[in-house]
Amino acid sequence: MRKFLVFLFLSSFPIFLVGSLMSGETQSSEGTVGIATCKACHPKYYESYAASIHSKKAIPDSPANKDGCESCHGPGAAHLEKMGSGGAGIFIFSKKLADAEQKSARCLSCHSETPRINFWDMGRHRAAGISCDNCHTVHSGTPKNLKARQPDLCFICHLSIRAQQNKQSHHPIKEGKVKCTDCHDSHGGFGTKMIAANSANELCYKCHAEKRGPFFWEHPPVEENCLTCHAPHGSNHSKLLIDKPPKLCQACHDAAGHPGTPYTSFETFRGSATGSKNRMFARGCLNCHSNIHGSMGPSTRGQTFVR
Ligand code: HEC
Ligand code: HEC
Ligand code: HEC
Ligand code: HEC
Ligand code: HEC
Ligand code: HEC
Ligand code: HEC
Ligand code: HEC
Ligand code: HEC
Ligand code: HEC
Repeated sequence: MRKFLVFLFLSSFPIFLVGSLMSGETQSSEGTVGIATCKACHPKYYESYAASIHSKKAIPDSPANKDGCESCHGPGAAHLEKMGSGGAGIFIFSKKLADAEQKSARCLSCHSETPRINFWDMGRHRAAGISCDNCHTVHSGTPKNLKARQPDLCFICHLSIRAQQNKQSHHPIKEGKVKCTDCHDSHGGFGTKMIAANSANELCYKCHAEKRGPFFWEHPPVEENCLTCHAPHGSNHSKLLIDKPPKLCQACHDAAGHPGTPYTSFETFRGSATGSKNRMFARGCLNCHSNIHGSMGPSTRGQTFVR
């Protein structure tokens, strides 16, 4: 079937060529043959291109105002000389013939100044040999030319993050309320782990502004790094905690200083001979220390984040 089609193409080829020349197609760069010529043999690819933003003449720097198909695929004259056999003579994006750097370079020839793409060189994706066409397809007509919607797009490769999304407590990413790219610059940026902020805390404050304070009584680990206690993607402990209280708290706070046992022979939960009432209830530090991110409360209550 394919051979037959190729035969059809080739036998009627001179007509196309003349047609495209007569249509007055601008042949801007050397060795290019113009989009009408490509369209004749690759109608499907033409259609998907025509449905994408790249075909829009109204955008000054679009491929439509440069070399059309050949803005990305390179000059096609040699391709035509070989009558298109096996893709010879033209740049193709499939892995076998081009490495990631070469592929991305095609896109970056126009997108190196696009906001959010301009830090591509700093990103982990580039360093890991990922190229634009791992996430984008130019020939689909989908929004932002993406191969799949988020988070499925990212889950193609990030299986461990997908696993974290299935945990009991998780940021509502798979529910579609938060996107991976709300928190990450998938093209690269200044943040560690490509987070879309200068630090983890700055990232969290974007949506959880009330945790920024200022508080009269601050809890040092909160100011320092939210990730000391929280996992960003998912956790089997409630509220995305990396561990369960009291263990979470006792990683830093001495259990002996603030007894974990509600009763001793001298003290009961309700009161005691010594008057000490700072006993834990159901081992839940948070039952009493509920303002764990900081407090405006007065005196000892505030200082110790007690309600
Ligand atoms: C005379 C018909 C014809 C014209 C005109 C033509 N091609 Fe092709 N092209 C082919 C054939 C045939 C193949 C081989 C298809 C295959 O092996 O599946 C091919 C292969 C390709 C491939 C690689 C496909 C692959 O999987 O290897 C690309 C990319 C491509 N053409 C782009 C273009 C562009 C861009 C133009 C315009 C500059 C163009 N073609 C003009 C017939 C043509
Ligand atoms: C000849 C220049 C040029 C080349 C080459 C080019 N682009 Fe574009 N692209 C543009 C312009 C212009 C726009 C529209 C304005 C913008 O968003 O920057 C655009 C828009 C986009 C968009 C946004 C789509 C949307 O719906 O908003 C994506 C994604 C994109 N390009 C990806 C790519 C990829 C991937 C490549 C390489 C395979 C590529 N571009 C090659 C010029 C180019
Ligand atoms: C890891 C996946 C991934 C890779 C690799 C990738 N992109 Fe994107 N790109 C995205 C996603 C996701 C969006 C949509 C962002 C959003 O909706 O917030 C996007 C958006 C864009 C946009 C539109 C920007 C805008 O603000 O509208 C352009 C242009 C673009 N990408 C170009 C590129 C270029 C060029 C490359 C290669 C140098 C590339 N992308 C590599 C995932 C990727
Ligand atoms: C903005 C860059 C861009 C433009 C413009 C563009 N393509 Fe492509 N083309 C790609 C990328 C990237 C792929 C890889 C597969 C994908 O993303 O869908 C591709 C794939 C192809 C393929 C399959 C072979 C391969 O390389 O995997 C053909 C054939 C093709 N394009 C033809 C065309 C034709 C014909 C036009 C013009 C009508 C055109 N392309 C315009 C970027 C472009
Ligand atoms: C609420 C913000 C947020 C969302 C949404 C988010 N991430 Fe993250 N991600 C982070 C933070 C914060 C880190 C850790 C940064 C650090 O360790 O300094 C991180 C780290 C990562 C890492 C590095 C490896 C690791 O496990 O630490 C990968 C990969 C990653 N995220 C992928 C994703 C993917 C894929 C999605 C979407 C399914 C996603 N992230 C959604 C905030 C987020
Ligand atoms: C084609 C596979 C692929 C896709 C699709 C993909 N990634 Fe990645 N990503 C990688 C690889 C490979 C690494 C490097 C892994 C490593 O260093 O362990 C990486 C690393 C990351 C990191 C960690 C950066 C660091 O500094 O450690 C983040 C964050 C990330 N990707 C986010 C995303 C997001 C968000 C998406 C979806 C928009 C996405 N990725 C889609 C392959 C992919
Ligand atoms: C893009 C916005 C956004 C960013 C950035 C963000 N979050 Fe969230 N966060 C949400 C949303 C939405 C929810 C769900 C709220 C709800 O269901 O009421 C949530 C819920 C939470 C929860 C409660 C989870 C549960 O199981 O109830 C914690 C804890 C949390 N986020 C911590 C963080 C931390 C730590 C960071 C920084 C690494 C962060 N968030 C960054 C949007 C965000
Ligand atoms: C010392 C450990 C610790 C640190 C550090 C920490 N948290 Fe929390 N966070 C908790 C605990 C414990 C809970 C559960 C509170 C509860 O169940 O009543 C929680 C709950 C939350 C919740 C969900 C309930 C609510 O109060 O809205 C959000 C959102 C949250 N934290 C965001 C943050 C942000 C943002 C940061 C960094 C600025 C941060 N946390 C730093 C321990 C911490
Ligand atoms: C990463 C270590 C760390 C973790 C985890 C941690 N804290 Fe703290 N916490 C501190 C530091 C440091 C201080 C400041 C001590 C000081 O000012 O003397 C503090 C202060 C406090 C104070 C006030 C003490 C005082 O005398 O002013 C209380 C109460 C407290 N934390 C409770 C908790 C609870 C409850 C948890 C668990 C949800 C927790 N902390 C988790 C490090 C931590
Ligand atoms: C029944 C309520 C209650 C519970 C449960 C509780 N606390 Fe307290 N905690 C207090 C009160 C009240 C204070 C104020 C000091 C005082 O009045 O003696 C305090 C003081 C503290 C202090 C500062 C003084 C000191 O002893 O160092 C820390 C730290 C502390 N608690 C940590 C914790 C941790 C960690 C847990 C969980 C293992 C916990 N608390 C469980 C009520 C409680």
